[in-house]
Amino acid sequence: PIASSQDSKEMSKFAFELLATSRRARRGRLTTPHSVVETPVFMPVGTQGTMKGILPEQLITMDCRILLCNTYHLGHRPGHEIVGEAGGIHKMMNWPRSILTDSGGFQMVSLSKLMTLDEEGVRFESPHTKEITNLPPEECIRVQQNLGADIMMQLDHVVHTLTTGPIVEEAMERSIRWLDRCEDAHTKDEQTIFPIVQGGLNMELRKKCAEEMAKRAKVGIAIGGLSGGEDKSSFWRVVAACCDWLPPHLPRYVMGVGFAVDLVVCSLLGADMFDCVFPTRTARFGTALVRRGGQLHLKQARFANDFSPIDDRCECHSCKTYTRAYIYSNIAKETVACHIVSVHNLHHQLQLMKDVRQSIVDGKEEAFLNEFLNEYYEGGS
Ligand code: GUN
Ligand code: ZN
Repeated sequence: PIASSQDSKEMSKFAFELLATSRRARRGRLTTPHSVVETPVFMPVGTQGTMKGILPEQLITMDCRILLCNTYHLGHRPGHEIVGEAGGIHKMMNWPRSILTDSGGFQMVSLSKLMTLDEEGVRFESPHTKEITNLPPEECIRVQQNLGADIMMQLDHVVHTLTTGPIVEEAMERSIRWLDRCEDAHTKDEQTIFPIVQGGLNMELRKKCAEEMAKRAKVGIAIGGLSGGEDKSSFWRVVAACCDWLPPHLPRYVMGVGFAVDLVVCSLLGADMFDCVFPTRTARFGTALVRRGGQLHLKQARFANDFSPIDDRCECHSCKTYTRAYIYSNIAKETVACHIVSVHNLHHQLQLMKDVRQSIVDGKEEAFLNEFLNEYYEGGS
């Protein structure tokens, strides 16, 4: 069961193999020009071309295979031309494995006061210089080709998840037209474009979009427009339905998802790829992710004389080296404590996905989910 398409130049450099399935869940292997990625996978997010608080070498030690970088931020600082001159984003970041760049479409939601949009594309106004940046789909691909990531995301029209009315359909239809313009601008066979399924919480729109995007997808496909404040059951319902409609030979990437419970549930519903700033962002606020109870807020005074590691079952460098008391004593004043927690959180998230993959191979994902939920909600937290 190897990748999709007929014509495609990507054929030689990309592949997706399903190694095992159990109920809806899939254990797969995505090959890109820079690495082999075991799925379901969590992709840590580097914003300005760096991972906040962590070095690429450390991610290699954790056996991380793929990172996500944001085009919008890189396009501004250092600027995509400079990244191109530096020999591309892999070289610039010292990251030899796979990279996925998001298109900047999603920034529409978060920066929408500074953004206008029409059929031509997206237009941003810099909050500092008032300078205007036009981002039509063609330019979005030109920028991402300069960056040189293995996987580029199409420019999509994202509306907030809870939006209703005709704009949801318009944005979905526009995203299909923009994908076609992105593909027309795409010239590099060592890079591929993932389409993004939109359509809000409307199942008819989602179905139509999934079908249209699946026709056009070459290597993989994303499910976007989620995780914006909708309730869990609507969110999981859309993921489950899209996974049912999408063909099995394409990996399915649920964008912007990073809470442990969502990673586990969505993997069991048939999703294969995820990304989120959550593990590193929350680390900078002094929160460590753990299986038992989900989170530890290491700024709490109760940790002042707690000489145990963050998580006594964790194999990460931070847990083998530092105590909760040490982190507590530093967290408010020293960036090194944030670094220690970031290392742990990413390791934790990658280990969770490793355990999910194993449970699928063993056909024990239901037991895994049970045990996971029991521990996560232990102590009523
Ligand atoms: N990140 C999280 N959700 C989305 C989405 O719908 N589109 C894009 N481009 N990025 C995202
Ligand atoms: Zn740890």
